[in-house]
Amino acid sequence: MAIREPIFSHARIEKNGLLMLVLVLLTISIGGIVEIVPLFTIETTIERVQGVRPYTPLEQIGRNIYVREGCYTCHSQQIRPFRDEVERYGHYSLAAESLYDHPFQWGSKRTGPDLARVGGKYSNEWHVVHMSDPRAVVPESIMPPYAFLAARAVSQSDIADHLRALRAVGVPYSDEMIANAQADLRAQADPDADTGDLQKRYPKAMVANFDGNPQRLTEMDALIAYMQMLGTLVDFSAHGLEDLKQ
Ligand code: HEC
Repeated sequence: MAIREPIFSHARIEKNGLLMLVLVLLTISIGGIVEIVPLFTIETTIERVQGVRPYTPLEQIGRNIYVREGCYTCHSQQIRPFRDEVERYGHYSLAAESLYDHPFQWGSKRTGPDLARVGGKYSNEWHVVHMSDPRAVVPESIMPPYAFLAARAVSQSDIADHLRALRAVGVPYSDEMIANAQADLRAQADPDADTGDLQKRYPKAMVANFDGNPQRLTEMDALIAYMQMLGTLVDFSAHGLEDLKQ
């Protein structure tokens, strides 16, 4: 008497190519659906938090340099909600703090410390020395020097287009921000400039002669402006997190 095999028995599936193909596709698509579907609702799943704003033109250029130089290969930008991390680096990172990051820099490698809240931790002068020669301030450091950034001028002509491109992917740069991109770029690195409008467009923007050289707008200016704002937009001291949600 022949033994009847159940429809989905191993023997039957392995002998039937088409059935196998259908089941493989079904299995893989479950994994795909679980990963992809939540992305369609990303707008509503990220809670808005007070203080988060798009990057100023100078910070955005600094960010581009950070990506270009591969700083993320040694530095993460995400403080996990564990006690040891919070004690070392500060409040754990919120999704909203990466809302305008294209691409985000969370990273997964910590050869150096996490930088998500490095803003305000050191002076601009410290950063200039550290970036130019890390071992001058941290003798045991294995970070490579980036002194050349102080000699490279920031390319200014395409900044408005850059903001426009970011707007196309959802960063809320206004027409006014785009029209004033070049002026804002220069004003942020010039303590003598009238920066009222810049501060209105980008609250908490730090204005300084970041690299110590008032003559030129350099990549060092931009990178330090970016580092000095990291993690500073949300004011965790004044309120509980619940009050900050919008
Ligand atoms: C090869 C790995 C490596 C790369 C690449 C690297 N760093 Fe570092 N970085 C380190 C290490 C290690 C430290 C800790 C020692 C020190 O302070 O120099 C550090 C420290 C720092 C600090 C001080 C952080 C703190 O809280 O004390 C800053 C800021 C920093 N790096 C910025 C950068 C930037 C910006 C870049 C890219 C231009 C970069 N690093 C690239 C390894 C690296």
